Amino acid sequence: MNIIDKKFNENGYFIKNSFISNSELELLHKAFEDHLIKEPINENTAKLNYNEIYKYKAINLFFKKLKKFLKINIKYDFYLRNIWFIKTINENFKNDLPYLPHIDKKRYFKVFLYLNDISESDGAFTIACNSSVKENEKLRLNWWNNSLNNLHGNKHGLLMQDDKFIFIPIEMKRGSIVGFDTNVPHYAGKVEEGRVRKVLRFNFHIDENISRLSFLKHKSIAEVSKNLNFIKNLFV
Ligand SMILES: [Fe+2]
Repeated sequence: MNIIDKKFNENGYFIKNSFISNSELELLHKAFEDHLIKEPINENTAKLNYNEIYKYKAINLFFKKLKKFLKINIKYDFYLRNIWFIKTINENFKNDLPYLPHIDKKRYFKVFLYLNDISESDGAFTIACNSSVKENEKLRLNWWNNSLNNLHGNKHGLLMQDDKFIFIPIEMKRGSIVGFDTNVPHYAGKVEEGRVRKVLRFNFHIDENISRLSFLKHKSIAEVSKNLNFIKNLFV
């Protein structure tokens, strides 16, 4: 198990500083600004679905690099769902999601690419460093099992405002990435006046079970038979 995989398994997130060069970043930055002008959802957000990624060469190239990196470093399987272009300023702040600590109701693996240097004052992405992905999965599933009683709760997340969580702002230079399982409590930091946070966010479907199957060829006989039992159980 390498360092990133170990950190991801223990804490549910990893950081990779200087993931891309300045020249790669410049082209991505241009694609980011172009897409926000061409197809904005609102003044600070735009989106590309997985099948539209070909529209921007720089994003396509970055995605290939990211996919290769994840394949080497993380053992789960991830499937790209969409890419979000987010430019946040102070005026966008509200006392609601995504600015309050939460886990997502639908579980994803997400990767943020920072397009500018982002410190706490620029609204750094903030995440709990001492929570349990498995415990939070129980809470999440429990919410879905009781969701009819909770329809008027917060939209895409379950609030996680317990004092026991230690939150750390992920302050990084432009061109760095942070990847996390959305079962880890997280929130968007508040951007101070006159500052800006520019990020590209890649949302992936996460499937530990499918991943176990696709890795069969790399496993020992004992592990293969364990996986076969898993398949058998699906039909019981
Ligand atoms: Fe979230």
